[in-house]
Amino acid sequence: MPLLTGLMHRFAGEQPFQGLAVAACLHVTAETAMLVRLLRVGGATVSLAASNPLSTQDDIAAALAVRYGIAVFARAGVDRPGYYRHIELALAESGKGPDLVIDDGGDLVNTLHTRAAPLLANVRGGCESTTTGVIRLRRMAAEGALAFPVIAANDTATKRMVEGTCGTGQSVIDGIMRATNTLLAGKTVVVAGFGASGRGVAERARGFGAQVIVTEIDPVRALDASLRGFRVLPMAEAAPIAEVFVTVTGSVDVIGEEHIAVMRDGAILANAGHFDVEIDVRALAAFAAAAHRDVRPHVDAYDLGDGRTVLLLAEGRVVNLVAAEGHPPEVMDLAFGIEALALAWLALSTRPSPAGGKLAAGVHEVPEDIDAEAARLVLATMGTSIDTLSPAQLTYRESWRIGSLPCTGGHARLPGLSTHPKRGDAALARVRGGGGGWRPGQHQPPEQPDRVHEVSPPGGGRQREHHREPQRQTPRDRGCVQGRPDDERGREAEAGREQQPDRGPVAGHPGHGQQVPGQRAGRGRLMLGQPEREQHDVLQERVRVGQGRGRERGGQDDGHDERGPEEPPGRLGRIPRRQHRGEYGDRGPCGGLHGTRHAEGHGRVAQV
Ligand SMILES: NC(=O)c1ccc[n+]([C@@H]2O[C@H](COP(=O)([O-])OP(=O)(O)OC[C@H]3O[C@@H](n4cnc5c(N)ncnc54)[C@H](O)[C@@H]3O)[C@@H](O)[C@H]2O)c1
Repeated sequence: MPLLTGLMHRFAGEQPFQGLAVAACLHVTAETAMLVRLLRVGGATVSLAASNPLSTQDDIAAALAVRYGIAVFARAGVDRPGYYRHIELALAESGKGPDLVIDDGGDLVNTLHTRAAPLLANVRGGCESTTTGVIRLRRMAAEGALAFPVIAANDTATKRMVEGTCGTGQSVIDGIMRATNTLLAGKTVVVAGFGASGRGVAERARGFGAQVIVTEIDPVRALDASLRGFRVLPMAEAAPIAEVFVTVTGSVDVIGEEHIAVMRDGAILANAGHFDVEIDVRALAAFAAAAHRDVRPHVDAYDLGDGRTVLLLAEGRVVNLVAAEGHPPEVMDLAFGIEALALAWLALSTRPSPAGGKLAAGVHEVPEDIDAEAARLVLATMGTSIDTLSPAQLTYRESWRIGSLPCTGGHARLPGLSTHPKRGDAALARVRGGGGGWRPGQHQPPEQPDRVHEVSPPGGGRQREHHREPQRQTPRDRGCVQGRPDDERGREAEAGREQQPDRGPVAGHPGHGQQVPGQRAGRGRLMLGQPEREQHDVLQERVRVGQGRGRERGGQDDGHDERGPEEPPGRLGRIPRRQHRGEYGDRGPCGGLHGTRHAEGHGRVAQV
């Protein structure tokens, strides 16, 4: 996890959480252990509870407690009262209540506002890691019930792409295959929900050769799925067809009794949504004649009493975390990197001092630069560099007046403007001085018609006919150079241009015709009106700067090596390229951690 490792060095110096108590409710996995250690290195006192009773990796919980002295309240397979009691203990660990919280699904924040409400006064803010949690928080905020600011760490573009689509997509398929050892190729797989995570699952299933059906309630997402080549059906129609079902909606009862009643023998049901409510497990149990637990690890077989059996994976809980290992470390590296940066920003923004302004209670977006910074750092760890905007591109991007540029002929080189920020600025200033766009009928080359009309030809039918607007000519039009080779005309025009004293701001420019140097011989000249000249001025700057540079370099203008001294180097990199799986990365396959129990009484682990 190179991003978190890099942040450890940074936070060790900056100490963004100095003196703060952080209560976290997260899946207790090796990746989470890295985040917890990072917070501690950054100065925090951390207490940790599990965000899912089945996803806890007991050896990780033990290692955090024994080796790092973290207060961990988690045990795999704990019952529901024990699960919520663990959260309460994590919240109460500091005595006065946490200063900051990190949640995954909203159970910790919910507990804070209900059973642990006396601790609320000390809380400055928090982060939420998953879609379901953000939805719950928004509902709380809408009711005015949320008492502090929470950053929706889940909602960054980078996290949804990397964690939702890539991480969930891969690990859900991994969980299904580990649990069932089924061949996906040729099978029909239903994916309910085509959000960031559902799309990942659907795409990965298709990659394994499955025929994928998507069910949705959102027409835009359904259209998206359809245009990406997935078959879109209501669940009622998909239920009798498919062999594998995956729910990933964040909703409830997506697969109910009416669907189970028509399923094929051997149908596999898996859920990847945060809570175990997407498959109606109670309805399944009531409908079935008999249930056989653990026919394989994390597989329960429900005998429907008519010769059909339906297989439920992971008791309807997050299949990728229960039957596999959740997201790969690379994914959680980025997700937790964003979360740690956001929490550090929150700690600063809510600091009770005149300098650190107060953030209002409610759900807040992750600041955009944090998302971009995390992506940049991860790219750097991958040894991947990207382009940066040249001054010309910045100029172009910032101006709404510049559209397409006139044809430049052979010798106008685009890198010219990009190498000379001052000239670029001047060009932009000129462009900003004028306005307008292309006017139909003005200054078009003779062979290009202006309008296309539908007309009736003699004898009936319809055909298209081109009409030309009458072309206006100026005295300058008539006097312009014709029938000369490109380069000669270009030089002549360029020389003339340099002699013109009044080529200042376009606003003061008289007339509306002007020759473009270097225009192709076969097409005559391009005659420009005021708005076109504004665009053309930018081009002229490019030509002039490019030629000047060419002369400076002994006439060579190869368009290369044009980077100005002020431009940053292309490579990004603060964190050395290093990939390692951390100290907990060597676990065996097939969910080998589950079933192993650390000894009770290790430090603060599972004290209840
Ligand atoms: N297992 C994991 O590791 C993991 C990772 C990320 C998110 N999640 C969870 O997965 C769920 C989805 O997350 P997301 O980020 O993709 O959310 P999302 O909001 O982007 O997508 C959910 C999609 O489900 C659709 N949907 C809602 N109800 C539906 C229904 N009854 N039938 C069919 N489609 C329905 C919505 O229209 C939406 O397009 C959430 O519960 C989230 O917390 C799990």
